[in-house]
Amino acid sequence: MEVIICNTEVEIGATAAAKVAKVTKAVQATGRNVVIGVATGSSPLSTYAALKQLIDLGELDLSQASAFALDEYVGLPTSHPESYREVIRRTVTQPLGLAPERVHVPDGAATDLEKAGADYDAAIKAAGGVDVQILGVGSNGHIGFNEPISSLSSRTRMVPLTEQTRRDNARFFSSIAEVPTRCLTQGLGTIMEARHCVLVATGVGKAAAVKALVEGPVQAMCPASVLQLHESATIIIDEAAAAQLELKDYYLAQSAS
Ligand code: GLP
Repeated sequence: MEVIICNTEVEIGATAAAKVAKVTKAVQATGRNVVIGVATGSSPLSTYAALKQLIDLGELDLSQASAFALDEYVGLPTSHPESYREVIRRTVTQPLGLAPERVHVPDGAATDLEKAGADYDAAIKAAGGVDVQILGVGSNGHIGFNEPISSLSSRTRMVPLTEQTRRDNARFFSSIAEVPTRCLTQGLGTIMEARHCVLVATGVGKAAAVKALVEGPVQAMCPASVLQLHESATIIIDEAAAAQLELKDYYLAQSAS
């Protein structure tokens, strides 16, 4: 695991985008189209902004890329502005110029959620697997929507949301009552199959989750800690999110070098 501590959100976005661009160019150099794993939430927005800058400068081309979102609410109409299908369309597909037919989001409206989950895993596999997965982290340590006690080898499936997650996400809705109670999320086993993982987090509200995921034991109570078992996981955070890290000075020294 690599931990990079940045001064600003803009720097976090630029650092994460540089990682994504590096993987993308390496894949494109082999003649293959890159597959990017994309996340919703506020944390990756600076990464998407920095990717857009690289595209505008002509340094990156994602027009042939495929993308797979991590998760989707169950029980929201797909046209709802806060459905992840819509969020990904607004924040990723449109600004980065991806072809809409190559951007995939789990089908939270499916009548058979088990089948929808299995189909999603199969679609990722058929696309050749995710080359680089962008991740945020929930304040309780979830990635995607893999809530605490998710199996570390879970596949794409329905997960009931915790009250904490519903409270955290209530800011996107007019009241907590409107926040769905269930989701369809890539599993931890699915996410771990991505060739590279880049997790971004900012702010003191993420400090405990970052401490647990970087320095805590690998355990289902902190689903993001499974990334300790990934051979290419980069954690890019600000000083506030790094506040509880025991080896913060060590990471800062590495980040500066
Ligand atoms: C949601 C998403 C996660 C995201 C998390 C954190 O629960 N399912 O993928 O990482 O929110 O969101 P934010 O970056 O807004 O703090």
